[in-house]
Amino acid sequence: MTVTAWQASAPSNIALIKYMGKVDATRNLPSNASLSFTLDQLKTTVALTNITATADRWHESNSFSATEQQRFIQHLQFLKQEFQYDGYFEITSANNFPAGCGLASSASSFAALTRCACQAFGSNISIEEMAALSRQGSGSSCRSFFPGWVLWQDETVKPITLPYNQLLHHVIVVSREKKAISSGLAHRHVQSSALYATRAERAEQRLTLLLESLQAQDWKKSYTLVWQEFWDMHALFETCDMPFGYILPDSLWVLQKVREYWDIHQDGPLVTMDAGPNVHLLFRDDQVALANELKQFFAEKYLVL
Ligand code: DP6
Repeated sequence: MTVTAWQASAPSNIALIKYMGKVDATRNLPSNASLSFTLDQLKTTVALTNITATADRWHESNSFSATEQQRFIQHLQFLKQEFQYDGYFEITSANNFPAGCGLASSASSFAALTRCACQAFGSNISIEEMAALSRQGSGSSCRSFFPGWVLWQDETVKPITLPYNQLLHHVIVVSREKKAISSGLAHRHVQSSALYATRAERAEQRLTLLLESLQAQDWKKSYTLVWQEFWDMHALFETCDMPFGYILPDSLWVLQKVREYWDIHQDGPLVTMDAGPNVHLLFRDDQVALANELKQFFAEKYLVL
């Protein structure tokens, strides 16, 4: 038997204007446009090997939960249907960052799976088409097909040219625990928050202001908008019918330290948080020394990637 295998990688991305809430959950169409920066350092590599079997299966070495494995296999089956592909695969997925550190990014893994499957099918569809397919597996993964700044609106995702296109990224890992509420569930629950009715409007307005402040190279204004945006999303979590939250005392401590730095120096990194307790910092390329200083400072207590 000839074994044929394919391999593809994709980076993660961090949203500064968040995708939270969907207008169409079957196709993962977002309630508002989102803006992200692609994190080239944090990657997932997926390998697919042709197998003679009656179902797709996982290679035994993987750190996914049973639900995550199921979601991943379902996306592979969706892709096979799209391309009318008959065979079965064994799937391997690995990250270039430590497993179980609360950063098991669905964005990089679904983008890598979609890329790898398209290779296996011998398809030569465009990157845009690939991103649209990947979006149906996990929304935020569509932004991982492009480098730098990426804008996703309805069914369209595209790279955009903005200043600060060489941002440095660190994430302060305050907890490595798997989250109790997946982002998929969060998208559903937030709809019961009274703040949700006007969420899309707020996010769209903030996006316009953020694009303007980045264009104008107004770093402080950009920091303020990015800060307000992640608190807006976390407020949705805490104000829905069955409130939940991701922010831990350690997350608050990190946020407070960064805010103090800004208060003293009137400069610092952009700060954001996803649906998790870890704090993401983004630095301009002229802030290398500050990025190292803060990295060392937080590394005394936490894993910093
Ligand atoms: C908080 O893309 O994980 O990271 O489409 O249901 O797979 P699904 O959700 P997902 O949501 C990401 C939410 C977020 C914000 C963002 O990345 O924009």
